Amino acid sequence: MTRIVVVGSINMDLVTLAPRFAGPGETLTGDRFLTIPGGKGANQAVAAARLGASVSMVGCVGDDAFGKQLYDGLVAEGVDVTHVTRVDGIGSGTASITVAGGENSIVVVPAANGRVAAAQVEAARKLIRGADAVLVQLEIPLDAVDATLRIAQDEGVPVILNPAPAQLLPVEWLSRVRFLTPNQHELATVLGADGDTDFRELMRRAPCPVVLTRGEDGAWFRDKDDEPKHQIGFKVDAVDSTGAGDTFNAALAVYLAEGLDVAVRKACAAAAIAVSRLGAQGGMPRADEVAAFLETHP
Ligand code: RIB
Repeated sequence: MTRIVVVGSINMDLVTLAPRFAGPGETLTGDRFLTIPGGKGANQAVAAARLGASVSMVGCVGDDAFGKQLYDGLVAEGVDVTHVTRVDGIGSGTASITVAGGENSIVVVPAANGRVAAAQVEAARKLIRGADAVLVQLEIPLDAVDATLRIAQDEGVPVILNPAPAQLLPVEWLSRVRFLTPNQHELATVLGADGDTDFRELMRRAPCPVVLTRGEDGAWFRDKDDEPKHQIGFKVDAVDSTGAGDTFNAALAVYLAEGLDVAVRKACAAAAIAVSRLGAQGGMPRADEVAAFLETHP
């Protein structure tokens, strides 16, 4: 069984379904409100567990009711929470999400996620040593991300860095990454490049292998010094794209041992299934669903 460690955020998603997005100063009547566990880290952990991996999470929840729900939710999904800390005196991370016409807008309040520290990642070193891959994103403090990259490199474990939300990153960090998994905008931001630069050019400029997600266009990927290759996207009726990128990252990690081309194809399929369903963790498929999808979408 593939062993994966996820270092990242754990949020409660406060999701409003609306006929369209409200403009500044405008009040709209929504159709439905739901609370759904989310956060890029927890989403990637749950997606990987549903795809059959043995998953451990490193992160923080608050001492509020959401914290208990989020912690229990991870346990119910089979994720090892030995390194999930409940922090006193602070609330859990939240994401206020509006979903309209298959698109979303998100405002994240990190709260307890801001307490994930390098020492907490260090405490999980043994776990990382035994992993096949580590997944990390940018919704936790950068010193914790740095610690994750350093420890994984020390231990010889490949790291998939999903640079979201995007920010400029030191070049030496990228040289420690096995795969960087941005979208086009994120890659430009991480590299400090002009946003209009062609994405293939950005991929060539990156000092590490890149798997670039392009929504309906699928994904482009470049390992080592190869030329970028394309995996076409799968067409589905979009219901909610929240968490589709997280599903993609998890699937990439879970299927990497089958080779990059296969892993990217399966990741595109898993993400397409996620987009066709509501909610981040609501939409994540199981391995048999990905296999069945690929049989009907050659
Ligand atoms: O990637 C989707 C996630 O981003 C949501 O679940 C939300 O919590 C935000 O962190």
